[in-house]
Amino acid sequence: MSPTSRTGSRRTGSRRSKRHVLITAGPTREYVDPVRYLSNESSGKMGFAIASAAVAQGDRVTLIAGPVRLETPPGVRRIDVSSAREMLRAVRSEFRDADALIMAAAVADWRPARKLAGKWRKKDQKTETASLELVKNPDILSLVARQKGDRLVVGFALETGDGVRRALRKLRRKNADYIILNDESVLGSERATVTILATDGSSVRLENKTKRAVAKALVALEKI
Ligand code: CTP
Repeated sequence: MSPTSRTGSRRTGSRRSKRHVLITAGPTREYVDPVRYLSNESSGKMGFAIASAAVAQGDRVTLIAGPVRLETPPGVRRIDVSSAREMLRAVRSEFRDADALIMAAAVADWRPARKLAGKWRKKDQKTETASLELVKNPDILSLVARQKGDRLVVGFALETGDGVRRALRKLRRKNADYIILNDESVLGSERATVTILATDGSSVRLENKTKRAVAKALVALEKI
């Protein structure tokens, strides 16, 4: 596999039009009550860097962002969402008109079974322990990739131990074209080490690169 640069859309014949790339970024928030939520440390930097790189290579870009403190890159159309279910709705709706999906968001796997209408007060809890019932969030990547047809779908993975084998299993399970395996060092950092795994079993490792350099390689990926 060699990432090659591309211009124009796969869907065009002689009349070339821009490729529409849909990118997700950042964490999701799953509210327990009006002021508390479950989330994760994702900064959104990787997804935003991918959006910038896609614009730079001439793509039309829609960025679906969880709650992050980042400026919208010039030329990018941004849709802000909060929960995984909101992100799923936005991705489903935007994917209809897209040529590629890059799921860089760190979607929360679980959400509280109920969101309390008022604040969860300590004084209402008579015991020293409390438990929170969680339900599984929809797997956005898997659900959307089922209907991808000839469109490119790229997912991410962050694994602890036996990374490549687990990421390859994830690639097949989720019906993606590529999985980008991140090293744990990526969280909050300006640099990244990733392994790009493809459906044909090939892989490319990018070691200690800027997120900008990784992003440039990712927007050059093509369907095998
Ligand atoms: N993803 C998603 N919807 C979810 C969870 C994850 O679309 N509810 C996407 C992420 O955006 C990422 C890929 O799936 O592109 C892999 O996410 P990861 O959290 O590593 O996978 P999980 O299926 O949650 O597997 P694990 O059991 O390792 O947590």
